Amino acid sequence: MKKILIKCGGSVLDQLSEEFFESIEELVKKGHQIIFVHGGGPDINQMLETMNVTPIFVNGLRRTDAKTLKVVEMVLSGKTNRKLVEKLTKNRLQAIGVNGSDAGLFQADYVNKEELGFVGEIQAVNKSIIQLLLSKGMIPVITPIAVARDGEKLNVNADYAAAAIANALEVEHCLFVTDVDGIKIRGEIQSEITIEEIHHHIQSGEIYGGMIPKVQSALSALKKGVESVMIVSGKNKFFNNQSWKGTKIIGKEMVIQ
Ligand SMILES: Nc1ncnc2c1ncn2[C@@H]1O[C@H](COP(=O)(O)OP(=O)(O)OP(=O)(O)O)[C@@H](O)[C@H]1O
Ligand SMILES: [Mg+2]
Repeated sequence: MKKILIKCGGSVLDQLSEEFFESIEELVKKGHQIIFVHGGGPDINQMLETMNVTPIFVNGLRRTDAKTLKVVEMVLSGKTNRKLVEKLTKNRLQAIGVNGSDAGLFQADYVNKEELGFVGEIQAVNKSIIQLLLSKGMIPVITPIAVARDGEKLNVNADYAAAAIANALEVEHCLFVTDVDGIKIRGEIQSEITIEEIHHHIQSGEIYGGMIPKVQSALSALKKGVESVMIVSGKNKFFNNQSWKGTKIIGKEMVIQ
């Protein structure tokens, strides 16, 4: 059965349209297995604000001290994950929440403990729990928190967590659902973009901030053999009668091993 990984941005979680869920339903009816990984930037920032903590980002990654980590876990697992599972359930989809830190799902190393604190880079994925849920016809909804070798929990950027799952499960499609219709260059949404163009536009600054981990994850998934990767909006219908709407990332340098 074909698997589709959907990374749902925290940026758009509160704005997911009915058409978005129709697209998911259409894919399920076509026999695809769906796995969600979610972000939660706005929910986390809102909670940090009430605690008078100012978010700090280094190259698009959230600097995470011990206090921030507690907030990240509480908000992602306790609020954002619950919200997405509820929305899917209300739309007749059998969703189940899973913490990335449970059953060794995400095992990670510190990216740079001094600079970023408790931020992880996924090294290994225990995919058996996800395969089990998929075999029962369920839609796993995964929170991007990992466990380090020393047992500490680590905060993982949701785009990177999505790529790790896509690669481990050898999914066919990978979708990054966000709050824009795709990648904009000089104000125009691109229907396709190549690796070379991505590198060029990161250099030129046309691709910046939260779009950077997204395109990096897209390129990593394509390199590992994921067939197609797209950036789509959660505000619209992204799949309609076999066709997709958004920016398709073209992996021209794709190496299949
Ligand atoms: N070239 C670009 N085209 C479109 N959006 C871009 C571009 N470069 C940067 N962005 C920014 O990237 C944002 C999407 O990334 P962001 O990290 O904010 O959201 P997300 O990943 O969907 O949510 P979360 O990080 O909470 O999971 C857009 O809202 C836009 O501001
Ligand atoms: Mg993001």
